[in-house]
Formats: sequence, C-alpha cells, structure tokens
Amino acid sequence: MLCLGIETSCDDTGVALVENGRVRDSLLASQANAHAIFGGVVPELASREHSRCLALMFDALLKRNMIEAKSIDVIAVTRGPGLLGSLLAGIAFAKGLALAFEKPLLGINHLHAHLLGAGIDRKLIFPALGLVISGGHTEIYRMESPERFIRLGRTLDDAAGEAFDKVGKFIGMPYPAGKEMDELAQRGDPFAFQFPLAYTRNENLDFSFSGLKTAAINLAKIMDKGADTLANFCAALNKAVADSLSIKIERALKTQQDINALYIAGGVAANSHIRRRFEQLSQRENLELLIPALPLCMDNAAMVAYTGHILAEAGFYHGLELEAVPRGRKIPDDLCHE
Ligand code: KG4
Ligand code: ZN
Repeated sequence: MLCLGIETSCDDTGVALVENGRVRDSLLASQANAHAIFGGVVPELASREHSRCLALMFDALLKRNMIEAKSIDVIAVTRGPGLLGSLLAGIAFAKGLALAFEKPLLGINHLHAHLLGAGIDRKLIFPALGLVISGGHTEIYRMESPERFIRLGRTLDDAAGEAFDKVGKFIGMPYPAGKEMDELAQRGDPFAFQFPLAYTRNENLDFSFSGLKTAAINLAKIMDKGADTLANFCAALNKAVADSLSIKIERALKTQQDINALYIAGGVAANSHIRRRFEQLSQRENLELLIPALPLCMDNAAMVAYTGHILAEAGFYHGLELEAVPRGRKIPDDLCHE
C-alpha cells in the first residue's frame, strides 16, 4: 500500500510517501524565515504559502520517486488542529487528488500523527501513554489503539514550546527560539536559577506554562546578558519545563497501571534535557520509550502518511465531506469503517 501524506497545519508544508509502513520519501518546506520578521506565524501568509508550494512539492515528490499519481492508494491529510486557512489549503488539495484519481481520503489528527510518528520503524505498543509537546499544544493521552486516544490532560494556557518561543523572543532570539535556547543551554548550569513549577501541586494532569514564562521574562529583565548567564538561564528553563512535564507523566502512570510504553512527540521532544529526562524515567519505570529522531519531532508529512497507512490498513476512511477543525475545537470521531 502506498500512502500519500499532506501536512499544512501551521507554517510547514509537507508531502510524504509511506509504502507498506516504511517512509519512502518526505519533503518539507519551512516558512520559518517568512514569519520570523513578524516574530510569530502570520496565518494568512501561511495559507498563501501552502497554496503556492503544495502542487509544486507534490509534483517533485512524484518525479523523484518516478511514480504516477494514480499509483497512490490512499491520500492522508492533516485535518486539525491547526490554523484554519492552512488546514483548508491542504484539505482542498487532498480532496482534488481524491476526486481526480478516485482514491480514498483520510483526515488525520495532527496530534495523533505526532505520537504515532514516534513509532515509525518501531513496533507500536498499546495501551500507551502519549505526551505531545509542541509550539501550540501540550497534551497527555491514553493511547488505546491507533484510532482511539483518550485525552487525560492539557495545558490551561501556554504550550511548552510557546514558553520557549516567547521567552526567547524577549531575550532577542529569532522565532521559533526553542532549538537555539536548547543549544545555548548545553553550556549552562540548570541549577544556577530556580524557576517556579506552576500548577504541579494538585491532583490533575493539566499543565500551566504561562507563570513560568512570566517568571523567566521577569528574571531576564534584571539579569546581566553575558554569555554564561544566558546559558545558565536557558539550562534552568529547560530543567523547569522537563520537571513540570515529568511530574505529570509520573502522576499519569500511577492512574494508568496497565501502560507499558511512553510516546513523546512534537517539536519540544527535540529538547536535549527533556529527552534525557524521559529516557531516565522510562528506564526507571520499565517502559518502552518511543520518541522520534530529531527531524521527525517537528511538523512533517511522514508522520501523516504513516498514520494514514495504519488507519487505512485497519479499514478506516473519510468521505469527501471531511472538514478542517481549527485549534480549540474538538475533532469529531467521524472515521468510517469498511
Ligand atoms: O511540532 P512543531 O514543529 O510545531 C507545532 O505543531 O507547534 O513544534 C514547534 C515547537 C516550537 O515552539 C519550537 O520552539 C519548539 O518546538 N522546539 C524546541 C526545540 N526544538 C523545537 N523547544 C525546545 N527545545 C528544542 N530543542
Ligand atoms: Zn505539530
């Protein structure tokens, strides 16, 4: 089975092919430079760029794999959550292909794709606990099966990546700042500063990162900006985010005792401190850790094609009435089954 994946939920345009469960090819066009001058993603610019790039990228994907569009068996496209205009650009393109070549369509939940994408080239394990940490989301799921995810917790305000990006912007780093701050943190001492761990002294699995963001910005206003201090600052921020995440994951494991795997995914899963922390945690708890290789942590179409492959194999599909679901709205359980 050859599955095409299309990803346009935010500011990266991606197309990829997964053949019989293996990633055959994946193309990604980042718009980061176009948005960097505005200090964040400009939705209208993002959708326009997706529309401009998609057909060209799809054509390039076919040519470099020496295949014709008609040999694709399934078309999987991110249907949410994301920016509405961006999602519509991808979905309209996918529906056009589905109609033209009479192929089944699958609308993919972007967050589920991040998590299942952590299992590319691995054996997927269920039931599992999944943590998505990205620029727009911080959520914990109980993953029952590839099509059944139960959300156990989410951020009440900022996402983990948003905290990195907003603090980074304040100290003069280009958007998105997470990667650069993590690189700076390598030379720093995580214990040099102590940030508050907001919303951890409770019984639930939700997160809050806006207090951490404010505390970090307030400290940045008064600290010296020497290279050593900045490195310490970034290392302490890495540690604070890792602490908040691991406190909630440990708590989730206490309530979900039949779990034997932990999936960590999303852009912030590229963070060195967070990766180390979850490697230690999963060893200690005797859990299988599924975490993507660095390039697959960020938004990409390989994870969408892979999720499409798994769902199509299990007999699921969507009709042409498939709708985009913007961030903040619940994605309906509307998969059809053969
Ligand atoms: O999953 P993703 O590519 O896009 C969203 O769906 O949001 O995640 C992007 C986020 C940004 O906030 C970026 O700053 C963050 O991931 N990020 C990192 C690192 N690399 C990317 N945050 C912390 N440490 C990193 N190494
Ligand atoms: Zn994402």
